[in-house]
Amino acid sequence: MAGKDKLSTDPYKGVRDFYPREMFVQNYIFDTMREVAERYGYLEYSASILEPTELYEAKTGEEIVEEQTYTFMDRGGRSVTLRPEMTPSVARMVAAKRRELSFPLRLYSIPNAFRYERPQRGRLREHWQLNCDIFGVAGIEADVEIILLASQIMQAFGAKERDFEIRVNNRRALGEAFSSLGLSEERAKELRVLIDKKDKIDDFNVRAEAILGKPLDPSIFNWSGFEELQNALSDAGVKNVVHNPELVRGFDYYTGTVFEVFDISPENNRSLFGGGRYDNLLDIFGQESLPAVGFGMGDVTMRDFLETHKLLPEYVPTTDLYICVLQNEHTGAAQTLAEKLREQGLNVAVDYSARKIGEQIKAADKQGIRFVLCLGADEVASKKYKVKNLKTGEETELDESGVGDFIWSQEI
Ligand code: HAM
Repeated sequence: MAGKDKLSTDPYKGVRDFYPREMFVQNYIFDTMREVAERYGYLEYSASILEPTELYEAKTGEEIVEEQTYTFMDRGGRSVTLRPEMTPSVARMVAAKRRELSFPLRLYSIPNAFRYERPQRGRLREHWQLNCDIFGVAGIEADVEIILLASQIMQAFGAKERDFEIRVNNRRALGEAFSSLGLSEERAKELRVLIDKKDKIDDFNVRAEAILGKPLDPSIFNWSGFEELQNALSDAGVKNVVHNPELVRGFDYYTGTVFEVFDISPENNRSLFGGGRYDNLLDIFGQESLPAVGFGMGDVTMRDFLETHKLLPEYVPTTDLYICVLQNEHTGAAQTLAEKLREQGLNVAVDYSARKIGEQIKAADKQGIRFVLCLGADEVASKKYKVKNLKTGEETELDESGVGDFIWSQEI
């Protein structure tokens, strides 16, 4: 085949390239997340994408570690994993500096994470995930704050309470329900995995009965603390909270409240993100337990949500003005003018192509740039510039010093 030795331009399966328009959406999502997290007093941190594999072996959960991690040997024979999530990394960082950090400690980060999954709507092999976690608060206030924060981020994106639902459950209550069944650890695990996948399984009851040896009595899943949490959240203004006794969440480290935010529109009926309380994760570093609650909010599911609910902002490039050059000899003048306008704070690009002016304008328009300025002999001589708004077609003649103010006034 002729193209045999040609490389594909496709990205690796399940990861995305971000051209400027996608990057704009990504930045909008990150900026919104960041703004709300900081409003609640969360401080940004970061860590490397590489972690020693054993970090995930103790408490992440079998399915993720054995089937979904990208793990390899480095040249020194150490097993390394691309992080599938951030929680073990942040726990490691908190454990490492526990004495120097002050509690309650509120941290956020927007890392990318890798999971070897079958790519499908809402699930890819690389995603970014806002992580907000609060350390050092054992009481329900922290659960309330984290769920409130999650809800406020949804609202900052323009979502209404009726668009989504916060489903909560409690790992401890679930554990008690399981012990009441008197199952072996292995059987209990099987049942937990089954319950976690309940929505995707048609013969759930049959399979549950096969594990239990009798039909599953749903009343064992009642959770006595739910009302307290629901009331506290309601007092904080969060009313769309429901108890979902089947909510498990995949990680082994959760110890108390777990929650998931669901899109309840018929077109995108799915989990958007989730989190929970994990009071014992620092144990894996040989440390005393430290109460912690947090969540991870993915960019892929958030983008789908915003698309479904028509909440994505219209694309606006960061470039304010595009200078088209009529004759090649004026390129130098265009560069000088561009530099002056940049000093006014404008973001300016210059066309060096010497194409027909119509084509240069088209190039600006294709990039979504709002304003163009065409520079030729007349403009160089008169030092008067016509700035054209490509959206309205309107043209305004200005001195160099007036260009910045004019464009700012138009953009508002
Ligand atoms: P998780 O439920 O595995 O939790 O992931 C959190 C969110 O990240 C998901 O609800 C989804 O929005 C997004 N996400 C996860 N995997 C993928 C994927 N393959 N493709 C696209 N998006 C994905 C955790 O990771 C916990 N560490 C969250 C946490 C923080 N709990 C306490 N603190």
